[in-house]
Amino acid sequence: PVTQAAKTQAPSKTLPDAQTVTSVTHWTDRLFSFRVTRPASLRFRSGEFVMIGLMGDPDPATGRQKPLLRAYSIASPAWDDELEFYSIKVQDGPLTSKLQHIQQGDQIILRPKPVGTLVHDALLPGNRLWLFSTGTGIAPFASLIREPQTYEDYDQIILTHTCRDVKELDYGRELVEKVRGDDLLRELMGDALDKLVYYPTTTREPSAKMGRITDLLRSGEIFADLDAPPLDPKLDRAMVCGSIGLNTDIKEILEAAGLREGANSAPAEYVVEKAFVG
Ligand code: A2P
Repeated sequence: PVTQAAKTQAPSKTLPDAQTVTSVTHWTDRLFSFRVTRPASLRFRSGEFVMIGLMGDPDPATGRQKPLLRAYSIASPAWDDELEFYSIKVQDGPLTSKLQHIQQGDQIILRPKPVGTLVHDALLPGNRLWLFSTGTGIAPFASLIREPQTYEDYDQIILTHTCRDVKELDYGRELVEKVRGDDLLRELMGDALDKLVYYPTTTREPSAKMGRITDLLRSGEIFADLDAPPLDPKLDRAMVCGSIGLNTDIKEILEAAGLREGANSAPAEYVVEKAFVG
């Protein structure tokens, strides 16, 4: 990937809720990630999302500009002093067609009101945590696998990531390598970091493991691969983040196994959120 070197710069507040881009990495022609300064007042729980964006084009009649905002999962953990985001590039997407061109030193708008269901508080205590993602749906889990509480609360954390092509797995694969090699996390978590299991699959390009995660669950192939028991509502907890189709299909599998959907107000065995698209 192509990454611009980061330089620390103080944000100049020319936009409302402006934050400054500190680095941008282009992973493929469809995917990029970027980091921005974090507002000193922003508190969030790993797994939550915020609204971010840019000023839109001037209204031809009035010349006035309105902010163009979309929901983005925060991909960095709650303890990080910067914020990271992982995005698709949609060539005719109102926001991402512009956002894909941001560079280090540019400003984006960030509304500091984090929300979301992919948080530890929305799950009852359990032993094994499944993080099911496709495409940019890995973003909230990029936050959660860097969050010490994840390792304190569970005996095993299984991150699955399914993409069409091998290159689209790069962000997640590098992230997992970074987590495993991170001195600070290692010092804090010790061997607990080894609880993280990474299960990447592709659907359209040959790779070591191919197939939709839904098919691998239904056939039991993933349990055989991981030498792990089948889903058990007493022990298993799950978070799901992907396309609407993926979310619907995984929900069906989890419900069939006896897991119930939770929320911040009523924790249960699994939670779901739609990945940012378009
Ligand atoms: P597939 O290639 O079979 O459609 P996308 O890039 O379209 O967001 O898809 C990301 C990944 O999610 C692809 O590997 C895609 O597989 C997979 N996927 C899409 N819909 C579903 C679904 N309903 N169940 C499982 N996997 C899905």
